[in-house]
Amino acid sequence: MSDNRRIETQAVQGNYRPKAAEPRTAPIHQSTTFKYDSAEHMAQLFDLDCADPMYTRLGNPTTSVFEEKIALMEGGVAALATSSGQAASTLSILNICQAGQHIVTASTLYGGTFSLFSNTFPKLGIEVTFVDPDASIDEIKKAFKENTRCLFAETIGNPGLNILDFDKFSTISQDMAVPLIIDNTLASPHLCRPIEHGANIVIHSATKYIDGHGTSVGGVIVDSGNFNWNKEKYPELCSPDPSYHGLVYTEKFGNLAYIVKARAQLMRDLGTTPAPQNSFLFNHGLTTLHLRMERHSDNALALANHLENHPAVSWVNYPGLKSHPSFKLTKKYLDYGASGVLTFGIKGGRTAGMAFMEACRLIAMVVHVGDARSCVLHPASTTHRQLSEEQQKKSGVSPDLIRLSIGIEHIEDIIADVDQALEDSQKS
Ligand SMILES: Cc1ncc(COP(=O)(O)O)c(C=O)c1O
Repeated sequence: MSDNRRIETQAVQGNYRPKAAEPRTAPIHQSTTFKYDSAEHMAQLFDLDCADPMYTRLGNPTTSVFEEKIALMEGGVAALATSSGQAASTLSILNICQAGQHIVTASTLYGGTFSLFSNTFPKLGIEVTFVDPDASIDEIKKAFKENTRCLFAETIGNPGLNILDFDKFSTISQDMAVPLIIDNTLASPHLCRPIEHGANIVIHSATKYIDGHGTSVGGVIVDSGNFNWNKEKYPELCSPDPSYHGLVYTEKFGNLAYIVKARAQLMRDLGTTPAPQNSFLFNHGLTTLHLRMERHSDNALALANHLENHPAVSWVNYPGLKSHPSFKLTKKYLDYGASGVLTFGIKGGRTAGMAFMEACRLIAMVVHVGDARSCVLHPASTTHRQLSEEQQKKSGVSPDLIRLSIGIEHIEDIIADVDQALEDSQKS
């Protein structure tokens, strides 16, 4: 997709250009199916000779508006929207990897992705090797095997908040001749466009900053179109597909092959489709993404600076702070700020952490990040409570850790709420 307009303009308008008397806002096509007049037109749809909508599991005009906009913003050639971020990670890999094959991933991952890779993928016969993203190029390369099919990582690790060294990871993926798949959820395309830094495929949980208002669960996969698929490693893209009359995706669709295959084959068979209503809300969310991301980042940085000097706080983890180990990478790869999520250690450990979460008034106790409204969580007593203290430690969760997703409210009100909750937490 090519468009020279700036990302802010793409966020607002994307590719949607209504004709006279058509709605200014891309409407919700709340329809399962689409009507045709000729058998020949129908046959063209089934032969993938025509991209018109046929059945909402495979594509929908409202969803297409969202897909085209996010592809433009990420600098990709095409996108496929999914029913959740989990579905986006799953399909992005299943599209090029099957039983008996292997992937390499940075270990600093969102918990759901970690669980997908460590529990479900092995059950499907896909082996996963986790690598320390701080390890050297040579050490990471040692994890690769002859049957490795991709390298996976997050731009901003959730919840560790380490920033990916894109130069290192893209060098490795190029040397090992596999695509680099990046989960760009916490950064969003406004702060970071991974394709410009060597990524081949980008995924998102659209549930977070893309939606931005806590209304819908969804995901999306964007392809750069710049990976050179070859027959030896990726026969599923470069050899005849028996489930499509022997069609060869790379021959028929060129650099759109990866997304066409994911839609025509995996979406057809697995059905992890977004509802048109949710695509409408994601498209709306993108319209203000650039404004929100800058405010999220400014607010989070101001609060992180405040917390660094607070007597009830033992440590602060925010990649926008000069004291953060990733600060150089933040400056190199993130524009406009380091997003809205930060973690800190509260004095008084688990008891104080639970008391803090309960004492917040403006900031809501919810299992969510990326919302316009500020969110708080004490993982040790909530998301990670089933794990032993030892297991919690291994997953980077200490008893004193508080996670905040800072919203776009006025910073003085956020700081006032945090201060009163910190005071309350220290009473017991
Ligand atoms: C970085 C990241 N990737 C993927 C996901 C999964 O997304 P979803 O909840 O939309 O399935 C999440 C959810 O929090 C996330 O934070």
